[in-house]
Amino acid sequence: MRYKFQLIVGAFIFVYLLVSALVLNFYNDLAMKDAKKEAYYVLESINSVREYIAGVQRPLIEQLKEQGILKEDFFDERLLSSSYISREIYNIQKKKYNLEFDYKLVAIAPLNKAHEPNEFEAGVLHGFKENKFKEFVKIIKDENGSQLFVGLPIKNQSPSCLACHSSANAPQQMLEKYGMEGIEIPDVNETVAMISFKIPIRAIFTYHLQEVIVIMSAITLIFGLFLLLVYKMHRRGEESKKQTEQLMIHQSRLASMGEMIGNISHQWKQPLAQISSALINLELYQERKKLDEAKIYEFIEETSKQINFMSETVDDFKNFFSPNTLRKEFKVLEVINQTIKILNATLKKYQIEVQLDVRENFEVFANFNEIIQILINIINNAKDAFKQSYTKPRVIKISTFLKDDRKNLCVQNNAGAIKNSFLKVIFEPHFSTKESGSGLGLYMSQLIARKNNAIIFAKNVDENHVAFTISFENL
Ligand code: HEC
Repeated sequence: MRYKFQLIVGAFIFVYLLVSALVLNFYNDLAMKDAKKEAYYVLESINSVREYIAGVQRPLIEQLKEQGILKEDFFDERLLSSSYISREIYNIQKKKYNLEFDYKLVAIAPLNKAHEPNEFEAGVLHGFKENKFKEFVKIIKDENGSQLFVGLPIKNQSPSCLACHSSANAPQQMLEKYGMEGIEIPDVNETVAMISFKIPIRAIFTYHLQEVIVIMSAITLIFGLFLLLVYKMHRRGEESKKQTEQLMIHQSRLASMGEMIGNISHQWKQPLAQISSALINLELYQERKKLDEAKIYEFIEETSKQINFMSETVDDFKNFFSPNTLRKEFKVLEVINQTIKILNATLKKYQIEVQLDVRENFEVFANFNEIIQILINIINNAKDAFKQSYTKPRVIKISTFLKDDRKNLCVQNNAGAIKNSFLKVIFEPHFSTKESGSGLGLYMSQLIARKNNAIIFAKNVDENHVAFTISFENL
């Protein structure tokens, strides 16, 4: 039962971790996709700005120059450079939306040295040039940790670009500003460039943080509730198991009721005989008119002594049969004496001598009646063994001792050894060597012992002696 419960809890935790991992993975994928989408969106809008400048703004300024409204070599990057303008627009966007995107524009043979590609970017640029891909997404590691890199090529290359991107054609003002010696780009296709974002992975993780927190809390809550339910069911199972056990212990005690009543009647025989002989004496004295006050007192004293003994006997049995007594601390000798008292008549009837060797009168914390029950079981078994053997004198030796930090109570008899093959199974349910035995006695005894933090073991001391030891944990 316990094993099964642990298995269920284990399976639950496993499923919980699995579900959690799946959910986190799902949200991670989602966050990555969202980050990519957002990056594309911003990059595409930058590309659109570039297209607008190349397609509308620059031709308009050319027109103004032709009409003489603007001077022939007028140049101002704030109006004419799409790279400059788009960078400015990105900076505005970044501030507005709190973007953690690291924007960069790189080109082969750039006018602005800040647009020089590093090794990795150069590789990507070549990929674009050779048309290996139309967009580029990759998780990379740099000095700032893991980043999602998203790159798009700059579209709209046209011969008109060479109006500035070649030292031969560029306007005077621009040539002065950018110092463009050596920049000679004969073919428009050589001007490969890319705009890109680097987004720190840790920033991406926060994308769906709120949903993740809500969902994970919900999952945790649901699993927690389930676990609680399973635990409650398990507890209930354990409890009912305990109750059944308790019931069984009590029933097995009741089962010995018949024998115990026999015991009572044996114990009562002597006091009853004594009372009746005292009564006869009383009558005789009365007939002979010799009954005086002293004789009456003597009679009263004698009979009340016997009656006291009888009522004590009944009390002992009553206490033994009373159910649900609590655990308490008691000396081991107490429980030995009480057992012998209860079994006194039986022991006498079968001429069994009890020898005590209480070397250590240790304290035991247990259910008093249940320990008596175990001892009665063991002694009754010995009695049955004696009935089948010819050993004389019949001796049961009860000894106590401490060993290996355990408190031991040993009951030894000389009724003959038990077969070794039996010794192994003696405590299993429904094992019995007796024809009428239920085979529950020792099994129940072991069960009761375990409940009281003890174990029972049996061994042959020699070919005549068997010892049953109740070994208590030293709590
Ligand atoms: C009016 C002149 C002019 C024209 C026409 C022009 N550009 Fe530029 N371009 C510039 C200037 C100036 C810069 C440097 C801006 C800066 O300070 O970053 C630049 C920078 C760039 C850059 C960044 C790399 C670098 O060289 O610093 C790219 C890419 C680029 N231009 C592409 C184009 C394309 C494509 C076209 C044609 C559609 C084009 N340009 C037309 C003036 C021009």
